[in-house]
Amino acid sequence: MYFSNEDIKNLPRIKRLNLINSITGVKPANLIGTRSNVNSNLAIISSIVHLSTNPPLLSFMLRPDHKVRRHTYENIKSEGFFTINNITDNFIEQAHYTSAKFDREVSEFKECNFTEEYLSDFTSPFVKESSLKLGMSYVESVFIKSSNTVMVVGKIEHIYISEHAINKDGLVDLEVLKTVGISGLNSYYKLKKLADFPYARVEDVPDFLSK
Ligand SMILES: Cc1cc2nc3c(=O)[nH]c(=O)nc-3n(C[C@H](O)[C@H](O)[C@H](O)COP(=O)(O)O)c2cc1C
Repeated sequence: MYFSNEDIKNLPRIKRLNLINSITGVKPANLIGTRSNVNSNLAIISSIVHLSTNPPLLSFMLRPDHKVRRHTYENIKSEGFFTINNITDNFIEQAHYTSAKFDREVSEFKECNFTEEYLSDFTSPFVKESSLKLGMSYVESVFIKSSNTVMVVGKIEHIYISEHAINKDGLVDLEVLKTVGISGLNSYYKLKKLADFPYARVEDVPDFLSK
């Protein structure tokens, strides 16, 4: 099957949305926890990427939606903090429904049956049910003109993870954490670790041609 740019443009809206959202492969599944001055907020986000290690910066993309207010973004900008909590295989349905457009005074923690957890005197709520939790401080927002989206950058202030999910080199095992992956906006995948390889030095590249 083949799609040209013209074909993509002419697809029905939902089909185009599903196709373009799912072609990049499995995306990370996380819940962003925030607080306003009145209540807590929780939203599923699949666009988190790592930007740098020192300082430890992560970012996520906010999709444009001119009709609906973005509570997560408003809270991050006003409070200066947020949390990132992984989604595990036992609560994917609850996590999915945090994307519903609840009113501002309604907390997705309550509606989707998650437990707010406050750790290290951090003012933003963590998700108690998650097996990997990050406390983040807001750094900056970068507007991307070509896609009319905002990239939100945050710095990791706290990491909570069970000891048995990190190896001696610091590598996190997502399978042990039972973290899931997302395709498009509707599909959830189980993750299975296949292999670990060392840092790829030219002199160590296996002779694939004779294999
Ligand atoms: C699987 C999935 C992934 C999503 N990823 C993102 C994302 O990366 N960025 C984004 O802005 N919205 C994303 N959304 C939509 C938000 O979850 C949704 O707009 C939510 O209502 C935002 O909540 P808020 O208004 O409380 O901030 C995603 C939704 C789903 C179902």
